[in-house]
Amino acid sequence: MCGIVAYVGYREAYPVILKGLKRLEYRGYDSAGVSLLDHNGLQVYKKKGKVAQLEETLVGQALPATIGIGHTRWATHGEPSDRNAHPHRSASGRLAMIHNGIIENYAQLKKELQNKGYIFHSDTDTEVLLNFIEDIREKNECGLEEAVRIALKRVTGAYVIVLLDQENPGTLIAARKGSPLVIGIGKNEHFLASDASPIIEYTKEVVYVNDYELAILKEDELILKNLGNEKLTPYIQKLDLELAAIEKGGYDHFMLKEIFEQPHTIYDCLRGRLDAKSGQIVMRGVDNHIEALSKAERILMVACGTSWHAGLVAEYIFEELCRIPVEVEYASEFRYRNPVIHPGDIIMAISQSGETADTLVAIEKAKEQDAMIFGILNVVGSSIARASHAGAYTHAGPEIGVASTKAFTAQLTVLTMVALRIAYAKGTISQERYLHLLNELEQVPAKVETALKTEEQIREIAARYADARNMLYLGRGYNFPVALEGALKLKEISYIHAEGYPAAEMKHGPIALVDETLPVVFVATRDSYHEKIVSNIQEIKARKGKVVAIVTEGDELIRSLADETIELPACDELIAPIVNVIPLQLLAYHIGVQKGLDVDKPRNLAKSVTVE
Ligand code: M6R
Repeated sequence: MCGIVAYVGYREAYPVILKGLKRLEYRGYDSAGVSLLDHNGLQVYKKKGKVAQLEETLVGQALPATIGIGHTRWATHGEPSDRNAHPHRSASGRLAMIHNGIIENYAQLKKELQNKGYIFHSDTDTEVLLNFIEDIREKNECGLEEAVRIALKRVTGAYVIVLLDQENPGTLIAARKGSPLVIGIGKNEHFLASDASPIIEYTKEVVYVNDYELAILKEDELILKNLGNEKLTPYIQKLDLELAAIEKGGYDHFMLKEIFEQPHTIYDCLRGRLDAKSGQIVMRGVDNHIEALSKAERILMVACGTSWHAGLVAEYIFEELCRIPVEVEYASEFRYRNPVIHPGDIIMAISQSGETADTLVAIEKAKEQDAMIFGILNVVGSSIARASHAGAYTHAGPEIGVASTKAFTAQLTVLTMVALRIAYAKGTISQERYLHLLNELEQVPAKVETALKTEEQIREIAARYADARNMLYLGRGYNFPVALEGALKLKEISYIHAEGYPAAEMKHGPIALVDETLPVVFVATRDSYHEKIVSNIQEIKARKGKVVAIVTEGDELIRSLADETIELPACDELIAPIVNVIPLQLLAYHIGVQKGLDVDKPRNLAKSVTVE
């Protein structure tokens, strides 16, 4: 979703902003722009398309400004076009602004401004907010900072805004509600960005701006205030992130790099927490709240997309091990329902980015009913992390590919550990099974390593199925959500229509689709449903469907039935989803690559969905 970068300091702002925008490309966008302020005044350059296209138009231009703002836009109000791209300029030409989020009452504000004679040059809510600020400043004859404060009190919706003012050439003004904003603190320079990736190469000292806060930045000064004009003390944190983590490191795509990082990321997730020898799981976020977690009468998991799939796997695991009823909710539905939350309920918010607007609002709603929020999150210091009462980080490192891969396996690993820790405390698991599962978890990085060795075979399978128009993904039990995740990956990366279903549910409708043109991917590793899923495979073969089966090594029965079999190491069924998803990630990736698609930045998608 929209990316924001801004700079004030002693360097030339344009190269810093341009590099920053490139680092934010992974978020998804359709146009890009910059605004720079120097002795010649305020200039705005913007273009539909990629950052590289904007860069081309500026080649050879002298751009000496040491203050500027930059933006990648993901269209909400108005089509992707040069005129709708950010930054926008105010009617007087004095101000330029970038914005991430949605101003919900923009239509009403626009009408008010039009009645006063304002003319708009774009279809955006951003231009409305900018002129609303300018109008307040002129009418009240006040400073820009005060005008921003007054305007934001009337605005509904979500925003991060950053303003440049021709009359105040050394100052950036930024504000946040609902969308992410990080300040980087350098020596005689300040950076602003939607996440830390554009900042990391210059400084590791950052301040995460909170909702309803305003930041006033000069090269040597940072002032943080609330909307009531009270000064706040910035909480400076040290980033635990290396530049290499956000670069491709020799891989063709971030998605492939992230798929191959999984043995390592899962290991990082287990490290220092799980010790199979001593039979211990130590997780501070869980240990500190073990009483509330063990006494939970119900767990509500709220999440979106891939994180929602992780929640579905966790539903099976928590119910099996902890005997706690679990409901898994799409955050976007939960936030608008009037959900029944009881005092003993725990809300688990699962999110890679920690910035997903629907998940964030869902937990804020649950907090209004006094629910305890437990976050399963990847990005340290993210909005959901800060809004949670407790939680556990997944430690997967930055995920840049839009399709979530390593975040999913890390979420499953953490959720399994949390369930085991609670089950142990509650006494709902036998010592023998507990130790067995700890052992199994410890072996996951090695098994994922083995699963990655199927890549060559999967590349060949991908070549045979890249022309498919539809695909069906089926699994049972713990593997049902894995099938959903496989289908989502394929849709996102290859634009092939794919559906995931519980294998037995197929008979209630999807079987009508089956003929010799339909590839059906079965997640059919050896588990308590094995015999049943073999019957489902036979049902597909009887109707001439093509079967691609993910099986446990040595499964001759399925091999004799399926058109393609991909063999994986044997795993306990409760742990298997972490390993079984690997070939599905690789299949989606290789089909996307063979179709010549941009797998890291699939069309229309954004990495973190910061608007509803
Ligand atoms: O950052 P989050 O985990 O909250 O994101 C949730 C979804 O937007 C995300 O998983 C999305 O579905 C991915 N594109 C899946 O690959």
